[in-house]
This record gives sequence, structure tokens and C-alpha cells, in this order.
Amino acid sequence: MAGITNSPFRQICKLSGVGLVYSEMISANGLIRDGQRTLELLQRSPAETPFGVQLFGDDPTVLAEAAKIISEYGEILDLNMGCPVKKVVRSGAGCALMQNPLHAGDVISAMRKASSLPMTVKFRSGWDISTINFIEIGKIAEQCGADALILHPRTRCQGFAGQANWNHIAQLKQAVNIPVIGSGDIMTADDGLRMLQQTGCDGIMIGRGCYGNPWLIENILRQQNGKDLRDISAQQRLQTIIRHFKLYQQSFGDRRAATEMRKHLCWYSRGLTGAGEFRFRVNQIDQIDELEETIHSFFSGLG
Ligand SMILES: Cc1cc2nc3c(=O)[nH]c(=O)nc-3n(C[C@H](O)[C@H](O)[C@H](O)COP(=O)(O)O)c2cc1C
Repeated sequence: MAGITNSPFRQICKLSGVGLVYSEMISANGLIRDGQRTLELLQRSPAETPFGVQLFGDDPTVLAEAAKIISEYGEILDLNMGCPVKKVVRSGAGCALMQNPLHAGDVISAMRKASSLPMTVKFRSGWDISTINFIEIGKIAEQCGADALILHPRTRCQGFAGQANWNHIAQLKQAVNIPVIGSGDIMTADDGLRMLQQTGCDGIMIGRGCYGNPWLIENILRQQNGKDLRDISAQQRLQTIIRHFKLYQQSFGDRRAATEMRKHLCWYSRGLTGAGEFRFRVNQIDQIDELEETIHSFFSGLG
């Protein structure tokens, strides 16, 4: 997830038992131009293995060039055909690729030829309700050499509104012979198992459900193995937050850690007594020591 799933967050999710993590989406254009900011998005630790790197773009030659570069940074290559953001689709990338299936096929083929990494393709149900074409796109991706598909079953025009249509995941699974990973609206351990059972998909991808709740992954795995869900104690929550904070400091330095951890702290405190006041305080602080102290006093005070 752009702006969220950087190396510290991915490492925290790995500790909760997730099998595979992906980068934020990375501009193929930015990558071949060696943009510093783009290269930063490729920072990862060995703990994040296997690491999937997601590219976005619209030009087959540029994407192929970028795919070659990725071989040095990740173990899996992914193409983004699902991003709904205006700036991205206006450039012909993200979900806009779904509007031109032949061109999408050219892009996937070019990436396939350029890289020997396993390749996944992530897409939506279609552009809008009248152009649902995920089955066509899935079959093209398979023919052009994708090794697995990831479907977030909403249309581009839906954005994140309404509900993800899990029936589309089930239909895609029936239509292709490569693994299908489902994405969309897994917020609880029950949701994770329900998606697997209802759709027959081969894997699940979790996005927003892990905001402030990386333990969701562990609980899905526990439930799958017939174990009771784990209640997270205040102490465990504090330990994870401090670890997340330290990883942030190591990766990006104190200043950025203090600013960017704010949103995670808001998520970690969601639903807890006094969370409103804590969030207000956290958003005022930019000194690392003060922030650490505030975190300790709030989360250890929860008992
Ligand atoms: C803030 C945000 C950023 C996202 N960035 C990406 C991205 O870079 N690449 C991608 O394939 N999907 C991205 N997504 C979509 C998610 O991967 C996922 O498919 C979608 O949120 C539905 O799953 P969820 O309900 O588990 O969040 C993003 C979603 C959000 C909310």
C-alpha cells in the first residue's frame, strides 16, 4: 500500500507470520531514471524475504527495463493494474491498463521476457460497472506468462466504496489455471477464512485490516490451525509499537520516524480508552524523546 507498507511496517507484519510482503507501488519511469526517492522504496531487510516488488507504468519498454532492475531487489515481480488514483490512470498506468486489454497483454509479455522472477499481476474487477472484464484480463495475464493473479474485486470507479465482490474472486479462480490471491475487506480472522472458503482462492492479501493490527495475520493463521485467537495484552502492544518505532528510526532517521509514526500510533490506539487525547498529543509532538515518553505512558497505563 502506497505510503504505508514500507520496510518497517512490512517487518512488523512478517513478525506476525505473514508469508509474503509486497513493496509500495513503484514507478517504472522513476526507477529507470534512478530517482533517489524511487530507490528508497526498494529498501528492504533480509527478514522480508520473499519480497514482491510492484511496478506501475504504461509503456512496455519502460516496464521491461524496470523489471530487469527489480531482479536485484526482490524475489517476485508484480504489475499494478488496479490503482484508481487520477494522476496514475491519467498517465495510462494502474487500472487504466484494464481499459485496453491488448496493450495490457503487451505490457505483461514485455515484463515476462525481461525477467525470470515469478510474476504476479494485480487488478480490479474492471473500470466501471458496465465494463467488468477481470476474467478477460486474468486469462490474458495467464497467457502472457503471469505466474499468479491478485484480484481486488471493486471497479476503478468504486474506489474503495461499497463492498468487495468476492464472487469475482471465485469466478476468476474457476477461469484460470494459475493461483489466484484475493484482496478486499479482510478485517477480522473470520473474514480471512471466509474468503478462502467462499472463493476457493489460493491465498489472501490483507491491506487496511493490518492498520494498527498486525496481529490480524497471526490470528488468521491461528484460526486456520484450530487454535484460539490471541488477545493482545497492553504489554505486547507496547512492545510491537516500540519495535515498529525503532525500525522506523533505523530505516529513515529520527525526524521522519517521529512524523510518519503518527498515523500508525493513531491506528494502534484505535478503540482504546483515552485514544482521542493520545492522538491529539501525538500530532503535536515532533521531538523523538517526548514522543517515546508519550507512547510509554499511554500504552503501559492501559494495564
Ligand atoms: C492507502 C492505500 C494504498 C494502496 N496502495 C496500493 C498499491 O500501492 N498497490 C496496490 O496494488 N494496491 C494498493 N492498495 C490497494 C490494496 O492493496 C488492496 O487491494 C485494497 O485496499 C483492498 O484490500 P483491503 O480491504 O484489505 O485494504 C492501496 C490501498 C490503500 C487503502
